[in-house]
Amino acid sequence: MTYEYILARTEGRVGIVQFNRPKAMNALNRGLMSETMDALDAFDADDAIGCMVVAGNERAFAAGADIKEMAGATPAQMLDNPFIDYWDRLRKISKPVIAAVSGYALGGGCELAMACDMIVASETARFGQPEINLGIIPGAGGTQRMTLAVGKALAMEMILNGRFLTADEAYKFGLVNRVFPAEVLLEEAVKLAGELAARAPVALRLAKEAVNAVYEMSLQAGLAHERRLFYMLFSTEDQTEGMDAFINKRKANWQGK
Ligand code: CAA
Repeated sequence: MTYEYILARTEGRVGIVQFNRPKAMNALNRGLMSETMDALDAFDADDAIGCMVVAGNERAFAAGADIKEMAGATPAQMLDNPFIDYWDRLRKISKPVIAAVSGYALGGGCELAMACDMIVASETARFGQPEINLGIIPGAGGTQRMTLAVGKALAMEMILNGRFLTADEAYKFGLVNRVFPAEVLLEEAVKLAGELAARAPVALRLAKEAVNAVYEMSLQAGLAHERRLFYMLFSTEDQTEGMDAFINKRKANWQGK
Protein backbone atom coordinates (compact mmCIF):
# COMPACT_ATOMS: atom_id res chain seq x y z
CA MET A 1 0.00 0.00 0.00
CA THR A 2 1.42 3.43 -0.90
CA TYR A 3 0.37 6.57 0.93
CA GLU A 4 0.65 10.30 0.22
CA TYR A 5 1.23 11.65 3.74
CA ILE A 6 2.78 8.77 5.70
CA LEU A 7 5.32 5.98 5.30
CA ALA A 8 4.30 2.56 6.61
CA ARG A 9 6.56 -0.47 7.00
CA THR A 10 7.20 -3.42 9.27
CA GLU A 11 10.25 -4.60 11.20
CA GLY A 12 9.71 -8.11 12.53
CA ARG A 13 6.43 -8.07 14.46
CA VAL A 14 6.39 -4.25 14.70
CA GLY A 15 4.30 -2.04 12.40
CA ILE A 16 5.76 1.45 11.90
CA VAL A 17 3.87 4.55 10.73
CA GLN A 18 5.93 7.66 10.04
CA PHE A 19 4.28 11.01 9.29
CA ASN A 20 5.68 12.45 6.07
CA ARG A 21 4.76 16.13 5.68
CA PRO A 22 8.15 17.59 6.64
CA LYS A 23 7.55 21.02 5.03
CA ALA A 24 4.42 21.53 7.17
CA MET A 25 6.01 20.21 10.39
CA ASN A 26 3.81 17.11 9.97
CA ALA A 27 0.67 19.20 10.58
CA LEU A 28 -2.20 16.74 10.86
CA ASN A 29 -4.55 17.28 7.93
CA ARG A 30 -7.44 14.96 7.09
CA GLY A 31 -5.39 12.98 4.56
CA LEU A 32 -2.58 12.29 7.02
CA MET A 33 -4.96 11.31 9.84
CA SER A 34 -7.05 9.11 7.59
CA GLU A 35 -3.97 7.31 6.18
CA THR A 36 -2.49 6.90 9.67
CA MET A 37 -5.64 5.28 11.00
CA ASP A 38 -6.00 3.05 7.91
CA ALA A 39 -2.42 1.83 8.39
CA LEU A 40 -2.86 1.27 12.14
CA ASP A 41 -6.17 -0.57 11.59
CA ALA A 42 -4.47 -2.81 9.01
CA PHE A 43 -1.61 -3.60 11.45
CA ASP A 44 -4.15 -4.22 14.23
CA ALA A 45 -5.91 -6.81 12.05
CA ASP A 46 -2.66 -8.53 11.03
CA ASP A 47 -1.66 -11.54 13.21
CA ALA A 48 1.98 -11.09 12.14
CA ILE A 49 2.09 -7.71 13.96
CA GLY A 50 2.14 -7.45 17.75
CA CYS A 51 2.80 -3.76 18.41
CA MET A 52 2.93 -0.46 16.51
CA VAL A 53 5.17 2.63 16.54
CA VAL A 54 3.99 6.07 15.37
CA ALA A 55 6.76 8.58 14.64
CA GLY A 56 7.45 11.90 12.94
CA ASN A 57 10.86 13.21 11.88
CA GLU A 58 13.70 14.66 13.96
CA ARG A 59 12.33 18.25 13.87
CA ALA A 60 8.66 17.50 14.45
CA PHE A 61 6.52 14.63 15.61
CA ALA A 62 3.52 16.78 14.60
CA ALA A 63 2.89 20.52 15.08
CA GLY A 64 -0.84 20.01 15.61
CA ALA A 65 -3.96 19.95 13.52
CA ASP A 66 -3.49 21.68 10.15
CA ILE A 67 -4.36 25.30 10.96
CA LYS A 68 -4.61 26.25 7.26
CA GLU A 69 -7.15 23.47 6.64
CA MET A 70 -9.16 24.41 9.75
CA ALA A 71 -9.04 28.22 9.65
CA GLY A 72 -12.23 28.89 7.64
CA ALA A 73 -14.41 26.14 9.13
CA THR A 74 -17.80 26.82 10.70
CA PRO A 75 -18.98 24.84 13.76
CA ALA A 76 -21.52 23.06 11.52
CA GLN A 77 -18.76 21.99 9.12
CA MET A 78 -16.63 20.75 12.04
CA LEU A 79 -19.63 18.72 13.30
CA ASP A 80 -20.58 17.38 9.85
CA ASN A 81 -17.12 16.12 9.05
CA PRO A 82 -15.73 15.17 12.42
CA PHE A 83 -11.98 15.34 11.99
CA ILE A 84 -11.42 14.71 15.69
CA ASP A 85 -12.99 11.24 15.36
CA TYR A 86 -9.60 10.08 14.06
CA TRP A 87 -8.16 10.51 17.57
CA ASP A 88 -11.06 8.38 18.92
CA ARG A 89 -10.26 5.70 16.34
CA LEU A 90 -6.76 5.47 17.82
CA ARG A 91 -8.32 4.62 21.19
CA LYS A 92 -10.00 1.60 19.61
CA ILE A 93 -6.76 -0.03 18.38
CA SER A 94 -6.40 -3.19 20.46
CA LYS A 95 -2.61 -3.76 20.21
CA PRO A 96 -0.18 -1.42 22.00
CA VAL A 97 0.89 1.72 20.12
CA ILE A 98 4.08 3.59 21.05
CA ALA A 99 4.59 7.23 20.04
CA ALA A 100 8.23 8.10 19.22
CA VAL A 101 8.41 11.88 19.67
CA SER A 102 11.31 14.01 18.45
CA GLY A 103 11.01 17.80 18.12
CA TYR A 104 7.58 19.41 18.38
CA ALA A 105 4.51 17.50 19.60
CA LEU A 106 2.02 20.34 19.77
CA GLY A 107 -1.76 20.65 19.93
CA GLY A 108 -3.33 17.69 18.12
CA GLY A 109 0.18 16.19 17.77
CA CYS A 110 0.62 16.13 21.54
CA GLU A 111 -2.93 14.78 21.87
CA LEU A 112 -2.14 12.04 19.36
CA ALA A 113 0.98 11.02 21.29
CA MET A 114 -1.05 10.96 24.52
CA ALA A 115 -3.74 8.78 22.87
CA CYS A 116 -0.99 6.18 22.27
CA ASP A 117 -0.14 3.72 25.08
CA MET A 118 3.46 4.80 25.72
CA ILE A 119 5.58 7.76 24.65
CA VAL A 120 9.32 7.59 24.09
CA ALA A 121 10.97 10.94 23.42
CA SER A 122 14.21 12.31 22.05
CA GLU A 123 16.16 14.83 24.14
CA THR A 124 14.93 17.53 21.73
CA ALA A 125 11.21 16.76 22.17
CA ARG A 126 8.88 19.62 23.12
CA PHE A 127 5.32 18.94 24.29
CA GLY A 128 2.70 21.68 24.26
CA GLN A 129 -0.97 22.57 23.93
CA PRO A 130 -0.62 26.06 22.43
CA GLU A 131 -4.21 26.30 21.08
CA ILE A 132 -4.81 29.32 23.35
CA ASN A 133 -2.51 31.29 21.00
CA LEU A 134 -5.03 30.63 18.19
CA GLY A 135 -8.03 31.69 20.25
CA ILE A 136 -9.22 28.09 20.78
CA ILE A 137 -8.66 25.26 23.26
CA PRO A 138 -7.46 21.65 22.72
CA GLY A 139 -10.21 19.59 21.09
CA ALA A 140 -8.76 16.08 20.80
CA GLY A 141 -8.34 15.22 24.47
CA GLY A 142 -5.61 17.62 25.62
CA THR A 143 -7.46 19.16 28.56
CA GLN A 144 -8.31 15.70 29.90
CA ARG A 145 -5.28 13.54 29.12
CA MET A 146 -2.66 16.20 29.91
CA THR A 147 -4.29 16.90 33.28
CA LEU A 148 -4.43 13.18 34.11
CA ALA A 149 -0.80 12.77 33.04
CA VAL A 150 0.96 15.74 34.65
CA GLY A 151 -1.55 17.03 37.21
CA LYS A 152 -3.72 20.14 37.37
CA ALA A 153 -1.07 22.74 38.24
CA LEU A 154 1.15 22.11 35.22
CA ALA A 155 -1.75 21.33 32.85
CA MET A 156 -3.27 24.73 33.66
CA GLU A 157 0.01 26.48 32.77
CA MET A 158 0.34 24.53 29.53
CA ILE A 159 -3.25 24.92 28.36
CA LEU A 160 -4.05 28.41 29.65
CA ASN A 161 -0.63 29.95 29.08
CA GLY A 162 0.98 27.90 26.28
CA ARG A 163 3.91 26.56 28.34
CA PHE A 164 5.93 23.84 26.56
CA LEU A 165 7.55 20.90 28.38
CA THR A 166 11.07 19.75 27.55
CA ALA A 167 11.73 16.01 27.24
CA ASP A 168 13.30 15.96 30.72
CA GLU A 169 10.29 17.74 32.24
CA ALA A 170 7.90 15.42 30.42
CA TYR A 171 9.82 12.45 31.82
CA LYS A 172 9.92 13.92 35.32
CA PHE A 173 6.16 14.58 35.32
CA GLY A 174 5.27 11.11 33.99
CA LEU A 175 4.13 12.04 30.46
CA VAL A 176 6.86 9.98 28.74
CA ASN A 177 8.33 6.55 29.43
CA ARG A 178 11.93 7.03 28.30
CA VAL A 179 14.20 9.68 26.76
CA PHE A 180 16.89 8.89 24.15
CA PRO A 181 19.30 10.86 21.93
CA ALA A 182 17.46 11.84 18.72
CA GLU A 183 19.72 9.67 16.50
CA VAL A 184 18.61 6.44 18.19
CA LEU A 185 15.00 7.32 19.07
CA LEU A 186 13.24 5.32 16.35
CA GLU A 187 15.56 2.34 16.80
CA GLU A 188 14.90 2.32 20.56
CA ALA A 189 11.13 2.72 20.06
CA VAL A 190 11.10 -0.23 17.67
CA LYS A 191 13.19 -2.25 20.14
CA LEU A 192 10.70 -1.58 22.94
CA ALA A 193 7.81 -2.38 20.57
CA GLY A 194 9.58 -5.63 19.65
CA GLU A 195 9.74 -6.62 23.33
CA LEU A 196 5.98 -6.02 23.67
CA ALA A 197 5.25 -7.83 20.41
CA ALA A 198 7.02 -10.95 21.75
CA ARG A 199 4.63 -11.21 24.70
CA ALA A 200 1.47 -13.34 25.01
CA PRO A 201 -0.81 -11.59 22.48
CA VAL A 202 -4.20 -11.97 24.17
CA ALA A 203 -2.86 -11.00 27.61
CA LEU A 204 -1.10 -8.00 26.03
CA ARG A 205 -4.34 -6.69 24.53
CA LEU A 206 -6.33 -7.22 27.69
CA ALA A 207 -3.58 -5.62 29.80
CA LYS A 208 -3.80 -2.51 27.60
CA GLU A 209 -7.58 -2.51 27.87
CA ALA A 210 -7.45 -2.84 31.67
CA VAL A 211 -4.96 0.02 32.15
CA ASN A 212 -6.90 2.31 29.79
CA ALA A 213 -10.09 1.59 31.76
CA VAL A 214 -8.67 3.89 34.45
CA TYR A 215 -9.53 6.81 32.15
CA GLU A 216 -13.09 5.70 31.59
CA MET A 217 -14.44 4.01 34.72
CA SER A 218 -14.82 4.51 38.44
CA LEU A 219 -12.36 2.54 40.61
CA GLN A 220 -15.10 0.07 41.53
CA ALA A 221 -16.11 -0.57 37.89
CA GLY A 222 -12.45 -0.69 36.83
CA LEU A 223 -11.59 -3.31 39.46
CA ALA A 224 -14.58 -5.44 38.44
CA HIS A 225 -13.59 -5.11 34.76
CA GLU A 226 -10.00 -6.13 35.56
CA ARG A 227 -11.23 -9.16 37.53
CA ARG A 228 -13.37 -10.35 34.58
CA LEU A 229 -10.45 -9.99 32.13
CA PHE A 230 -8.15 -11.81 34.59
CA TYR A 231 -10.53 -14.79 34.90
CA MET A 232 -11.14 -14.82 31.14
CA LEU A 233 -7.42 -15.33 30.48
CA PHE A 234 -7.68 -18.70 32.25
CA SER A 235 -9.58 -19.91 29.17
CA THR A 236 -6.56 -19.29 26.89
CA GLU A 237 -3.94 -21.79 25.76
CA ASP A 238 -1.33 -19.14 26.52
CA GLN A 239 -2.23 -19.17 30.22
CA THR A 240 -1.73 -22.97 30.35
CA GLU A 241 1.50 -22.59 28.36
CA GLY A 242 2.86 -19.66 30.41
CA MET A 243 2.33 -21.38 33.75
CA ASP A 244 3.61 -24.75 32.50
CA ALA A 245 6.72 -23.04 31.09
CA PHE A 246 7.38 -21.36 34.45
CA ILE A 247 6.95 -24.60 36.41
CA ASN A 248 9.15 -26.58 34.00
CA LYS A 249 11.79 -23.84 33.75
CA ARG A 250 11.50 -23.37 29.97
CA LYS A 251 10.68 -20.48 27.63
CA ALA A 252 6.98 -20.08 26.82
CA ASN A 253 5.88 -20.50 23.23
CA TRP A 254 2.90 -18.16 22.79
CA GLN A 255 0.14 -19.05 20.34
CA GLY A 256 -2.13 -16.03 20.76
CA LYS A 257 -5.00 -18.38 21.63
N1 CAA B 1 -0.78 23.77 10.69
C1 CAA B 1 -0.44 24.13 9.44
N2 CAA B 1 0.82 24.48 9.10
C2 CAA B 1 1.76 24.44 10.06
C3 CAA B 1 1.47 24.07 11.38
C4 CAA B 1 0.12 23.71 11.68
N3 CAA B 1 -0.25 23.29 12.89
N4 CAA B 1 2.60 24.15 12.11
C5 CAA B 1 3.57 24.54 11.27
N5 CAA B 1 3.08 24.73 10.02
C6 CAA B 1 3.78 25.15 8.83
C7 CAA B 1 4.07 26.66 8.87
O1 CAA B 1 2.95 27.40 8.45
C8 CAA B 1 5.23 26.75 7.89
O2 CAA B 1 4.71 26.68 6.59
P1 CAA B 1 5.25 27.72 5.44
O3 CAA B 1 6.71 27.34 5.26
O4 CAA B 1 4.40 27.38 4.27
O5 CAA B 1 5.08 29.08 6.00
C9 CAA B 1 6.00 25.45 8.15
O6 CAA B 1 5.06 24.55 8.78
C10 CAA B 1 7.19 25.61 9.08
O7 CAA B 1 6.73 26.25 10.27
P2 CAA B 1 7.42 27.56 10.92
O8 CAA B 1 8.02 28.42 9.82
O9 CAA B 1 6.42 28.20 11.81
O10 CAA B 1 8.61 26.87 11.73
P3 CAA B 1 9.26 27.35 13.12
O11 CAA B 1 10.43 26.44 13.34
O12 CAA B 1 9.51 28.83 13.10
O13 CAA B 1 8.13 27.07 14.23
C11 CAA B 1 6.41 25.77 15.35
C12 CAA B 1 7.71 25.75 14.49
C13 CAA B 1 6.75 26.28 16.76
C14 CAA B 1 5.93 24.32 15.41
C15 CAA B 1 5.36 26.70 14.70
O14 CAA B 1 5.21 26.32 13.35
C16 CAA B 1 4.00 26.64 15.36
O15 CAA B 1 3.78 27.28 16.38
N6 CAA B 1 3.06 25.88 14.74
C17 CAA B 1 1.67 25.84 15.21
C18 CAA B 1 1.51 25.01 16.48
C19 CAA B 1 0.07 25.02 16.94
O16 CAA B 1 -0.51 26.06 17.22
N7 CAA B 1 -0.53 23.84 17.03
C20 CAA B 1 -1.92 23.68 17.44
C21 CAA B 1 -2.81 23.56 16.23
S1 CAA B 1 -4.54 23.57 16.63
C22 CAA B 1 -4.90 21.99 17.16
O17 CAA B 1 -4.06 21.09 17.11
C23 CAA B 1 -6.32 21.77 17.63
C24 CAA B 1 -6.58 20.45 18.25
O18 CAA B 1 -6.53 20.33 19.47
C25 CAA B 1 -6.98 19.28 17.47
